[in-house]
Amino acid sequence: MYNDKVLEAFKNPKNVGAMENADAEGTVGNASCGDIMKIYLKIENDVIIDAKFETFGCAAAIASSSTATEMIIGKTLDEALKIKNSDVIEKLEGLPPQKIHCSVLAEEAIKEAIQNYRAKKA
Ligand code: FES
Repeated sequence: MYNDKVLEAFKNPKNVGAMENADAEGTVGNASCGDIMKIYLKIENDVIIDAKFETFGCAAAIASSSTATEMIIGKTLDEALKIKNSDVIEKLEGLPPQKIHCSVLAEEAIKEAIQNYRAKKA
């Protein structure tokens, strides 16, 4: 069902685990499957210098979280906000149609973390 790229990201995910003293956190869930994704960010001068995740979900959700954290490290907050689930899917070289929603969690978790960070600063 999954391509090699997705399987590799699922079996050897990058940036897994909680982050101590994170500058921002975002947690989102999918009501239909019950899966949850939490993203932690370390931010300096509006640039994401580190990102980690904890995902209680399917292989596609874990592969998407891993890939999404890799994509946002080094990006400004505005650049990270532009990342769409379709960009994550492209990096993963595709997800099965019934697993597209899992990548949406990654996009939403990033947005949630950044919004929380900006709300905290405001
Ligand atoms: Fe729930 Fe994939 S099935 S995130």
